[in-house]
This record gives sequence, C-alpha cells and structure tokens, in this order.
Amino acid sequence: MKKIRISIIGFGVIGSGVAKVISEKKGYIKSRHGIDLELVGIGERHGSIVCEDGIDPMEAYDLAKSREMYKHPCWKEEMSGIDVVREVNADIVIEATPTNINSGEPGLSHMMTAFKNKRHVVTSNKGPLVVAYKELKRTAEENDVQFRFEASVGGAMPVFNLVRESLQANKMLGIEGILNGTCNYILTRMSTEGLSYEHALSEAQELGIAETDPSYDVEGIDTACKLVILANAIFDMDATYKDVEVEGITGITPESLKLASDEGYAIKLIGEVRDGLRVAPRLVPKDHPLAVGGTLNVISLHTDLAGEITVTGKGAGAIETSSSILSDVINISKYEFEGT
Ligand SMILES: NC(=O)c1ccc[n+]([C@@H]2O[C@H](COP(=O)([O-])OP(=O)(O)OC[C@H]3O[C@@H](n4cnc5c(N)ncnc54)[C@H](OP(=O)(O)O)[C@@H]3O)[C@@H](O)[C@H]2O)c1
Repeated sequence: MKKIRISIIGFGVIGSGVAKVISEKKGYIKSRHGIDLELVGIGERHGSIVCEDGIDPMEAYDLAKSREMYKHPCWKEEMSGIDVVREVNADIVIEATPTNINSGEPGLSHMMTAFKNKRHVVTSNKGPLVVAYKELKRTAEENDVQFRFEASVGGAMPVFNLVRESLQANKMLGIEGILNGTCNYILTRMSTEGLSYEHALSEAQELGIAETDPSYDVEGIDTACKLVILANAIFDMDATYKDVEVEGITGITPESLKLASDEGYAIKLIGEVRDGLRVAPRLVPKDHPLAVGGTLNVISLHTDLAGEITVTGKGAGAIETSSSILSDVINISKYEFEGT
C-alpha cells in the first residue's frame, strides 16, 4: 500500500469538494488501487491548515462550509497557499484557485513552485494553462514530475485521459464540442420554451447556473479558453486566447431558434479546433450527437483510426469535477509511485 500525500490549494467549491470525495472514497481507492490518499495541507487565501500526520478531509470540508476553517487545531493564519506548496511535504498538489485568464495568477505561481519543489500538479484551473501552457509543461518535464488537468475542460468528462490512454494510436484530426453549460442551458430554454435571451439568462442566474456578470460565459470567452487548452495539449500547438475567433450567444433570438427548429436544427455554441480555433453559434441537426440539451457538455474527437468518438457529461459541479481530479491523482500515483 502506497501512501500519497496531498495538498489542496484553493478550498472553495472544487477544493473542498475534492476533500469530501477523498473522505468518502478513501476505502474504495485503497482496496481497488492500493493507494492510501492522505491530505496533509490545505492552502487558502487567508491562512492554511497543515498537519503532516494527516488532516481529516471531512472535518476540513465541514469547517469550510461553515466558513470556520480558522477553528481547525492545525490552522496557521500566517501561512499562504504558496507557503503550503513550498513547505508542506506533499507528493501531489491539487490547484483549485480561481481562474484568471490574464495573468494566470495565483495558480501559475502555485504550479511553477510545485514543479520546482518536485511535486506533481493536478488542476481544474484554466487560467495558468491558457496563459503559459508550454512553460508549465516544460518546467514539469525538467523537474521530472507530472502535470495533469483533466478537470480544466468539460468537468467530469474524460478528454485528455481518453486521448492519452484509449486513443493513443490515433492521430487527432479535429475536435468540436459544447464546452459551456451556461450557454447550453440558455439556448436550450430559449428553444424549448420560446424565452427571450434576457429571460433565459435571468432564469439561469436565479438557479446559480450563470454568474451575476455572465459575460465570461455568454460571450464565448470560457469556451475559447477551453479550446486553447485542447489545442495546446492535444494538438501540441502554442495557441493563446488571441488565436481564437470568438462569437458568443448574446445576439441569438427566439425567432432564429424557432426557424432553425422548424427545419430540424438546434442552434448551439460550438467550439472547434480544426484549421484554426473558432467559437460560434452553429446549426446542429437535432439528432446529431452534439445536440445535447440543458447544462450538459459534449466533445467529439475526430480521429484517423477510431473515427468519431463523442463524450457527453456534466461540465461542472464539485463532485463531478472531483471525479476528474481524482482520476488524475490515481493515475499519477499508479504510474509514478507503483510503476504499473
Ligand atoms: N466550480 C466548478 O464546477 C468548476 C468546474 C471545473 C473547473 N473549475 C475551476 O476550478 C477552480 C476552482 O473553482 P471553484 O468553483 O472551486 O472556485 P471558488 O469556489 O471560488 O474557490 C476558489 C478558492 O480559492 C481561494 N483562493 C483565492 N486566492 C487564493 C490564493 N492566493 N491562495 C489560496 N487560495 C486562494 C478562494 O478564496 P476566497 O474565497 O477567499 O477568494 C476560494 O476559496 C477555478 O479555476 C474554476 O474555474 C470549477
């Protein structure tokens, strides 16, 4: 049985969700994979919990939910997230701080520091990947550690691991998909209920599906960032946000959706990597695999051997996203520490 020591940096929805799932799945992961996951550090914006003998992940989760992390016996007010990355003896750092697509910070510094301290990194944070993918990859390689980010695109859906493991003999010819659940929800409600864009957006905001400032989602920026990550990681490009042609969904009317529907089509916000990177509303036949509704995400991978492989699933949510994060953690643990 190999003990894998983990630090989580950023203990919000995703970070604390991962702790909850570690608590619930610890026994299963031990018996199924022979890996004993131990949480040793939690780095937050205003302090940290550090316990080299192990932190009870459920206790930390409960304290985070009641905003009382400072009550933990191992709370260290003066210790920041980056101190935890540097000083706590973890094998794997899970980075789950907010996405910043301009500077990549604070995640970028957390990741670079982790690599330089010979720690593997698993992340759901798109920012550093959009800003500095090549530099992060190179630094991980130079330090002989792994960098995995399955949760950064499509939440629960396996994409990078699918390409890396199951489709490894294939050449990737193109990728297209719906990568933003908020836009998909709004378009679905406009189409099925005949709602205006404004009405569907305010409904999504009431349900917590859209942010108060929805521009990052509805203007296609989030989808574009995910395309950049897909392009760099799967097609080995050196793309940045500037390389994506972006059009969002704010100009779509219920009338255009009705017209499309009468002809057997749905209008979907599609991100595509193929002869360039593009995000735009597109007509999709209603019976096409890409025509998924509600908040679902979908990705179609076009390959030379396997043809078209399509994956559909939940693109967000603490527990769903934790599925991808733990998959990365288990993969690293197996390959790096077990030699399997
Ligand atoms: N939520 C999802 O379903 C989902 C799905 C896929 C990917 N993601 C990505 O995963 C990441 C985390 O998302 P989330 O929903 O968990 O966000 P969140 O709830 O806002 O959590 C982020 C946490 O990081 C903390 N933080 C901010 N700056 C920090 C610093 N310098 N050091 C340590 N901690 C710091 C925040 O503290 P404060 O609250 O004090 O600022 C907050 O507790 C984001 O990059 C997001 O884009 C989220």
